[in-house]
Amino acid sequence: MSHNTIAINQQMKHFDSHASVWLFGYGSLIFKADFPFIERRPAFIRGWTRRFWQGSHDHRGTETAPGRVVTLAPQADALCHGMAYLVTPEQFAHLDHREKNGYLRLATDMHFDDGSSIEGIVYIATHENAAYLGPASELDIARQIACAHGPSGPNSEYLLKLAQALRELGKPDAHVFEIERHLVAMDEQ
Ligand code: SIN
Repeated sequence: MSHNTIAINQQMKHFDSHASVWLFGYGSLIFKADFPFIERRPAFIRGWTRRFWQGSHDHRGTETAPGRVVTLAPQADALCHGMAYLVTPEQFAHLDHREKNGYLRLATDMHFDDGSSIEGIVYIATHENAAYLGPASELDIARQIACAHGPSGPNSEYLLKLAQALRELGKPDAHVFEIERHLVAMDEQ
């Protein structure tokens, strides 16, 4: 699969007849909503865990020195907490462009704090995409993030903003916080 997933995502017609669609964000979509939305609510999805396993050649790194950003890895019994946005279908042109480096739209159920749930869309970068980097220790991930910069800014900013947003949501994430701890320790040295 090529890096650029725009053409594949445009073939997803599942929600085309809907006036509005819920989008689940678990990474930069939590802290950077650069699109109009009708409503926003904290939410979670089941069976996925957040991991810094996706390479970023276009936003937080370059072709020769990719950064690391989050994707979701399947894990039975896991919950991934994030932010859900109710958007009109037209927003997906912008979102497909933003998430083009390996992320595919997937229909998923998302759950809200009041016990309700609804089917919507999440962008996931699977191990089959060319930009996928895969597992590494939290220390090695922090080392890579510390060095990477891209057109959207330093990779460390992505990590720190995500950790802060998860803290504000009251949803700690051990993987993200451990990478943050290593990064802060490196900065202090
Ligand atoms: C997301 O935030 O839901 C997808 C990954 C990212 O854009 O950081």
